[in-house]
Amino acid sequence: MIKLWLKRLSLAAAAVTAGWLIGSVFTSRAVAQAPLATCAAGTKASACFKNVTTDALKNLTPGDFLSAMGVMADSLGLDCADCHPGAGTDKADWVFDTPAKITARKMVNMVQTINKENFGGVQMVTCYTCHHARDRPATTVSLDSLYSSPNFEKDDIIQADKSQPSGTEVLDRFIAALGGQQKLNGLTSYIENGVSIGYEGLGGNGKFTIYAKSPNQRTTEIRFPDHPDRAPSVWTFDGKVGWVTTPRGLLGEYQLEGANADGALLEAQMSFPGQIKTLLTNWRTGSLESIGENAGAASSANVSIVPPDDYRVVEGNGPRGLVAKLYFDTKTNLLVRVLRFVNSPIGRVPIQVDYADYRDVNGIKFPFKMAFLWLDGRYNAEISDVKVNVPIDAKVFGKP
Ligand code: HEC
Ligand code: HEC
Repeated sequence: MIKLWLKRLSLAAAAVTAGWLIGSVFTSRAVAQAPLATCAAGTKASACFKNVTTDALKNLTPGDFLSAMGVMADSLGLDCADCHPGAGTDKADWVFDTPAKITARKMVNMVQTINKENFGGVQMVTCYTCHHARDRPATTVSLDSLYSSPNFEKDDIIQADKSQPSGTEVLDRFIAALGGQQKLNGLTSYIENGVSIGYEGLGGNGKFTIYAKSPNQRTTEIRFPDHPDRAPSVWTFDGKVGWVTTPRGLLGEYQLEGANADGALLEAQMSFPGQIKTLLTNWRTGSLESIGENAGAASSANVSIVPPDDYRVVEGNGPRGLVAKLYFDTKTNLLVRVLRFVNSPIGRVPIQVDYADYRDVNGIKFPFKMAFLWLDGRYNAEISDVKVNVPIDAKVFGKP
């Protein structure tokens, strides 16, 4: 069995040292190795990589393929290197078929068949359903845990709880809490400056900047002006197309396509919450959900910026299986967490952003603390100043 905890720590540390942030890419495990050949936009995984053959994965975009690799590794509690010799070093051999990789390929096909034959093709069974972060699934309930802690795992897809206010009602309260619809309609752009905070004392101290332009452009940057040797991380989205540059990512600089682009669009649009109700459909409010210490052993080890409490959860649906769960403080009506999922053929890809320390800027509340968490990395940011309705050069949102 893998020593998951130790691995997790070193992964997170690696992610932070290399200056990674905000999901959509699962590159941080591949630190310290040269990018694979940069694939042209529009290339499928089977063309970009040499040995990708499963029907389920071969037609994904390269970025979405790597997200699926992140899902695979985390669902089994493994590292890239457990299936790919030398992963994380310059000697990585991604093409070679290890026994684990051959089994994984079979399992990818098995999962498709299970869902097709039993669930009408709906993705009900994923790698995680059986594996639960173990390489070999457990078969029998543990008597030790039977009478102790309840299972804190949550549903991705929530059902409406009729005792709660409707989804749009909760969103209206949020809009009012931020400063009101009129104020938000008047927000056309902003620049947030701050600092990136590393994890477990490593990394961090990057210059953190968010540029946002209504209705759907957004760029996030981490730069290290005092360390010219540390390359910046830049995520841009110009309303249609996004670009990701992570210094030591497997794909180098690449264009966002597929499910990752849907996620980036939502993130850019959510930067202007006045339009929030129009961004997704089928808004529904579920039962209260706890975050923080209450939420079980797994999360009590985390240093969360969101205090432990029960939060109101509103969920909506987007294109191609995109789902976003929004957590609101029941007293302030402010948003404390966005957990968004995009589809992959072997399980959803989750990305989470927490918000805290809301402060008033020209009559609108902005969160001054953020925490980004994704399948293989985490990162916090603290904002020191926000400038609203400032001109931003269109180039900022283009290819970095
Ligand atoms: C449980 C085993 C397993 C783990 C863990 C795993 N992979 Fe894979 N990987 C595979 C399989 C299987 C394929 C081939 C998929 C196919 O044929 O459709 C593959 C293919 C690849 C390829 C394409 C290589 C080529 O040129 O053909 C890359 C790149 C890759 N994986 C990266 C990663 C990264 C990065 C991670 C860690 C986040 C990772 N993998 C974790 C099983 C795994
Ligand atoms: C229906 C349950 C189920 C699902 C779903 C499932 N697996 Fe498995 N998997 C198993 C079982 C059971 C074993 C152990 C088989 C054995 O020990 O011979 C296993 C073993 C494996 C192994 C070998 C592990 C080792 O250490 O030998 C890999 C790799 C693997 N699965 C990958 C995956 C991937 C990737 C997915 C999702 C695409 C997946 N599995 C989905 C049941 C499942």
